[in-house]
Amino acid sequence: MKIRIDQQEIDVNPGETILEAARQNGINIPTLCYHEAFGGQGMCRMCMVEVKTAHSTNLVASCTYPINEVIEVHTSTPVIEKARRTIIALLYRTAPQSEFMKKLYQEYKCVENQLEINENERCILCRLCVRACEEIGSSAISAILRGTEKRISTPFDEASTVCIGCAACANICPTGAIELSQTPAGRTIWNRTFAVVTCQRCGQAFATREQLDYIAQHTGIKGSESKLCDDCRKKNLAAQIEQYAQ
Ligand code: SF4
Ligand code: FES
Repeated sequence: MKIRIDQQEIDVNPGETILEAARQNGINIPTLCYHEAFGGQGMCRMCMVEVKTAHSTNLVASCTYPINEVIEVHTSTPVIEKARRTIIALLYRTAPQSEFMKKLYQEYKCVENQLEINENERCILCRLCVRACEEIGSSAISAILRGTEKRISTPFDEASTVCIGCAACANICPTGAIELSQTPAGRTIWNRTFAVVTCQRCGQAFATREQLDYIAQHTGIKGSESKLCDDCRKKNLAAQIEQYAQ
């Protein structure tokens, strides 16, 4: 099927989202809650675009809009830019302690709004961390409470017994909202400190014992392989391939 995005005619597979089609063709649409590993979530609305069908024109979230008919898409119009500035201004008021949100707020030249500022917050509730924990970790975190009290945490804010300390949540968070500290003594996240395992080859701390046990259970990677960090494991594999090829 052929559609147009910003005057460019492109081929798409039915069901593909507008965001995927745009990015595959080098057209940039800004996102916050989208990650290529998990797809769109429709939470932040930053990826909003204008879609014209035979019958209507609407603003839609491009990360969750599947292309099932011939459409014309505009990714940047005065209306879209104004909507994005409003979204960023609202999210910045929600998470003013996030340096990332502050930069975005300045970059988009947003104007002050009258909403109450949430002084200590860095989270914009995009839920990327929850998705990462569901897909890579052990579903240890979720959105708790409701309304203005809503936030991401472990059940009852307690040290989670199912968390494996992989830190996928902190690594994926766009706004740096998740507290993570790592010292030779351990990795602390979500009110729990995990002992860290160091790589047998390079000596870098790279995982927690719980994380390695989890990986062994789900992938079968165990023994000496699980005691190497990703870099050293790749080097090991390359050396083995080279040896095999000689
Ligand atoms: S902690 Fe980060 S990743 Fe999780 S919902 Fe908040 S902003 Fe999104
Ligand atoms: S990136 Fe599409 S709604 Fe957040």
